[in-house]
Amino acid sequence: MSLKHSYTLLAPLYDLIVNGPTAGMRRNSLRRLTGATDQTILVSGIGTGLDIPDLPAGPAYIGVDLTTAMLRRAQRRLRQRNDIQLHCGDVMYLPYADEQFDVILMHLILAVVPEPERALREAARVVRPGGRILVLDKFLRHGERAPVRRVLNNVIRHIATRTDVVLEPLLAQCPQLQLIEEIRLAPGGWFHQIELRKTE
Ligand SMILES: C[S@@+](CC[C@H](N)C(=O)[O-])C[C@H]1O[C@@H](n2cnc3c(N)ncnc32)[C@H](O)[C@@H]1O
Repeated sequence: MSLKHSYTLLAPLYDLIVNGPTAGMRRNSLRRLTGATDQTILVSGIGTGLDIPDLPAGPAYIGVDLTTAMLRRAQRRLRQRNDIQLHCGDVMYLPYADEQFDVILMHLILAVVPEPERALREAARVVRPGGRILVLDKFLRHGERAPVRRVLNNVIRHIATRTDVVLEPLLAQCPQLQLIEEIRLAPGGWFHQIELRKTE
């Protein structure tokens, strides 16, 4: 089963399963957005739009996702907002020009896609020099054995998310990205809130 198919099936249940456990960390991550009016922000893998209520007014937003059923739910969340456009697309092959965005938001997408290194390289391509990539996701520590998550990964990577992704090899593929901040969150430091900056 492809991720597109499984997220089509998961779409009606997604908010019920994911909103509660992620709401606090999601809000903390989004506090790093300044609301500057001259910014364009890409919300990579926007899903059902759980981030939308906490996106500050001011910037122009583009949300991209592979799954129409998830985007349909995000569309319902837009309500009065006319500052967010939704696009269907693949974050590993972004349909955008180089250096087009001031900020790329990557909440629960980098460790979801089959090739996270490609998705990060694409984000690094479309963000402007000096721009930021804000990540919230699950990463194993470098050298961490994590046998349960590595075995689970063989199945769950085809349905919902990878559980074996290590951050350091991804960053090594993008030397133009500087690690500004990395905060390990519960449970047991698996979730990370990360800020990357593209060098000028
Ligand atoms: C775990 S959900 C995260 C959604 C949202 N970012 C959030 O924080 O709730 C993963 C999302 O990634 C999307 N997705 C999976 N593979 C993708 C790809 N290659 N390109 C774009 N979106 C993808 C799925 O459709 C799903 O909406």
